[in-house]
Amino acid sequence: MYTGLKHLHSGLRYVVLLLLIIAIITAISRLIGKQPYTEGNRKLNLFTLISAHIQLLVGLGLYALSSLVTFSDMGTVMKTANLRYWTVEHITMMVIAIVLITVGHSKAKKAVVATAKHKSIAIFYTLALVFILAAILMAVNKGFITFWGV
Ligand code: HEM
Repeated sequence: MYTGLKHLHSGLRYVVLLLLIIAIITAISRLIGKQPYTEGNRKLNLFTLISAHIQLLVGLGLYALSSLVTFSDMGTVMKTANLRYWTVEHITMMVIAIVLITVGHSKAKKAVVATAKHKSIAIFYTLALVFILAAILMAVNKGFITFWGV
């Protein structure tokens, strides 16, 4: 179960990152070009949101099962880089990113004019991408994972 979820979570990172990057580029280019918000744009932004929410659910499963997540001795957890990263830092940064995606999507949905919809996606999805990349690069930098795979 743990290994399966870990592989799924590890692989889903590419789906989330790819969709996020395509959604951001699309939103920025259509905002600059003052182009309409199409059904295709709506679907792309929705699939990006769904992929992030699936990643959240799988992440929560891993959070419950991983031996790198522990609350038994928070003093030691906060002093140990990999325990601190997986127990505190990863979840915090990723949840912030997923909240940003959710807010951006909801604002785009509520907005009436196309430019406001594109703008909301461009701003909130970019901020989310920054948090996700920062969290991944932090783990890569500390040697817990490699960027392109386990
Ligand atoms: C877009 C959001 C997320 C991305 C891109 C992401 C990405 C990753 C990556 C690349 C790994 C390393 C996997 C590996 O070792 O092969 C990982 C591990 C992990 N993630 Fe996430 N994650 C996200 C959200 C979350 C959330 C929201 C949670 C918790 C609720 C979470 C919990 C975990 C845990 C506990 C591990 C460590 C598993 C272990 O090695 O025992 N992740 N994540």
